[in-house]
Amino acid sequence: MSVCLVCETRIEPFLSFGKMPIANGFLLPEQFRDEYFFELKVAFCPNCRMVQLAELVDRERMFHENYAFYSSTSVRMSEHFRRFADWVRTNYLTESDPFVVEIGSNDGIMMQNFARADIRHLGIEPSSNVAQVARDKGIRTVSRFFDEDLAKSIVAEDGRADAFLGANVMCHIPYIHSVFAGVKTLLKPRGILAFEDPYLGDIVEKTSYDQIYDEHALYFSAASVSYLADRHGLELIDVLPQPVHGGSMRYVLSHSGAYPISDAVRALRAKEEQLGLAKSETYDRLRTSVERSRDDLRALLLTLKGDGKRVVGYGATSKSTTVTNYCGITPDLVEFISDTTPIKQGKFSPGVHIPVRPYPEFVSRYPDFALLFAWNHADEILAKEQAFQQAGGKFIGYVPKVGLCG
Ligand code: SAH
Ligand code: TMP
Ligand code: ZN
Repeated sequence: MSVCLVCETRIEPFLSFGKMPIANGFLLPEQFRDEYFFELKVAFCPNCRMVQLAELVDRERMFHENYAFYSSTSVRMSEHFRRFADWVRTNYLTESDPFVVEIGSNDGIMMQNFARADIRHLGIEPSSNVAQVARDKGIRTVSRFFDEDLAKSIVAEDGRADAFLGANVMCHIPYIHSVFAGVKTLLKPRGILAFEDPYLGDIVEKTSYDQIYDEHALYFSAASVSYLADRHGLELIDVLPQPVHGGSMRYVLSHSGAYPISDAVRALRAKEEQLGLAKSETYDRLRTSVERSRDDLRALLLTLKGDGKRVVGYGATSKSTTVTNYCGITPDLVEFISDTTPIKQGKFSPGVHIPVRPYPEFVSRYPDFALLFAWNHADEILAKEQAFQQAGGKFIGYVPKVGLCG
């Protein structure tokens, strides 16, 4: 039993993954002994509709000077954020001398588009290593966790904002009321909040349970975002589905009454009712699908091992920490994980300790199978890995079902 982060109703987990390590906590052998674990469990609140973690990890354990996720490792995501920034400029930066704020700005993947266009901007990024990469690109960045107090000091120094943006960060913030209160303070009368995160509807439809890990405290839907907005004098005015990260939703909010509410909001609310996102039974069914997915993946990997096949992981994603630990995927089943991020290479994956090796090691000796941990980048990866497939290599996926892909 725990208490809802949004409305304080008492809630019960519908799914427990057992002990989990920090999803981005890639580590060296001398750190194995002190590795931190917590209980990963998710709950649904029938009152405000928020799906959420029932036990939280302190933010300083996850976001710090050695944060392992550098946004700009994906070319497709750079393009995505260029389009996101263009959409903001065209639709919402219509007043003179506009000001844009982004939280979780990471290495500047989105903000670089505003900086290059000489638009007044501020990135807020607590993980100081990635924040420095952004500064080196000429992006104004403060290394702090965003909250209501920081919002007030930004207003005092820079004035109010035309657009407040966040991608894959709102869902990281359990003290979400402070963020929404900060947004309310920070926005100009016609200012907007636009944020995108993995969408609960996609998680339920695709059984993409690997979206569930320590950093993702909240799993948004139009219903839960509307509830939150309402509590802060804000309003959900538009929703735009995004194909990134395995199915995301962009939510657009403004001060209540500042803009008309689009038909897309009404349509999505209706679709969520149809999908059963308001019903506990839906989450019980999700648990059953997750357990089946785990059993299928484990059975496949054991068969391949029995057949003497070499299996290598592709992409040491944060999501893969849930999959490897929950399914018991140890180095005897997956030889190593190939990843292009220098800070992860030479280290071991959290919990199950599979070695993470640089990409050239994948190419120099192709395995029989590549377990596609970075399935959310499947288009980009399958296009790039023609030679592997022509050499007889096969990709294994597990979303929405365990099987070969490509
Ligand atoms: N927006 C980028 C990065 C997402 S990763 C992208 O979509 O690729 C999430 C980022 O949010 C991390 O860099 C983390 O350090 C940052 N973050 C976590 N909590 C935050 C908070 N309270 N305020 C601002 N940024 C935060
Ligand atoms: P993400 O799913 O959280 O975006 O993380 C993607 C991870 O996969 C990141 O560590 C980089 C890695 N990666 C590769 O190794 N090769 C690739 O082609 C892509 C797109 C990602
Ligand atoms: Zn609630």
